[in-house]
Amino acid sequence: MSVDIERRGAIAIITINQPDKLNAMNSERLRALHGALRQLDMVRSVRCIVVTGAGDRAFVAGADISEMATLAPDEGLAFARIGHAVTAKIEQLAQPVIAAVNGFALGGGCELALACDIRLASDTAVFAQPEVGLGVPPGWGGTQRLARVVGPGLASEMILTGRRVDAAEALRVGLVNAVHAGAELMEHAVTMAERIAANSPRAVSASKQLMGLALAGNPSNGLATEARRFADAFGSADQREGMAAFLEKRTATFQDEQVPEQEGNSDR
Ligand code: COA
Repeated sequence: MSVDIERRGAIAIITINQPDKLNAMNSERLRALHGALRQLDMVRSVRCIVVTGAGDRAFVAGADISEMATLAPDEGLAFARIGHAVTAKIEQLAQPVIAAVNGFALGGGCELALACDIRLASDTAVFAQPEVGLGVPPGWGGTQRLARVVGPGLASEMILTGRRVDAAEALRVGLVNAVHAGAELMEHAVTMAERIAANSPRAVSASKQLMGLALAGNPSNGLATEARRFADAFGSADQREGMAAFLEKRTATFQDEQVPEQEGNSDR
């Protein structure tokens, strides 16, 4: 299975398990993750969930670029929607979800972590939203959730430059709650999950939902627009070049955007 579930008493650990691809998420793995979350949603004896990535290099190194490279806009929209379904499911679960970020959390991996209630990181963790270098905007909620966590200024910088944020900076800017040595990360995540699990499940769940309401505002319009703009990027020269460059292990070169006739300034 590309997504594993392990029970430890009142805790469930979900491991995204494709370490040879740095746990990059294709639609099959996204569906498996969605299925795992739905399954745990039904199990009230699970009081807290930890999500992590297999291996010691990556949490999730992003959406699978080899799958995205060939998508048409309608397929891009479907891909955004599966990502949105997974991240919404995490937010809607009764149980809190802790992301144990054990390495790269790039693009969709950063967005997955952002949907979780709490983020803990290994000292090797790296966060980034590098999508604009691939010719697409973030498509799984990053444009809506990152600013809520780190503030609009840093969110803009991360999304518009694609700059990587290491574990120490992530801690300083509040992107993660704590940083631990890689070998100790899961132990700390499980200890925190057990502490949550020892509390009233009803009160924990109510608290999660209420904090979600306060933070969310009304993101549904933003998410719908995000999915549409993500989809629109597929088939563009920038998306083809950005993803082909990654797959061919070279630097992408993007052409200037053409200004459509009717938007040009006729006085110039
Ligand atoms: N999609 C598809 N495959 C990916 C991937 C992604 N997002 N991230 C990593 N992989 C694959 C690589 O293609 C490689 O596969 P291969 O061995 O079949 O060639 C494997 O995972 C290992 O990655 P590699 O690039 O060789 O490791 P590295 O240590 O040189 O670099 C990263 C690690 C994370 C810096 C690099 O893989 C990377 O930049 N990944 C893409 C990150 C990204 O842009 N994510 C956002 C997507 S929206």
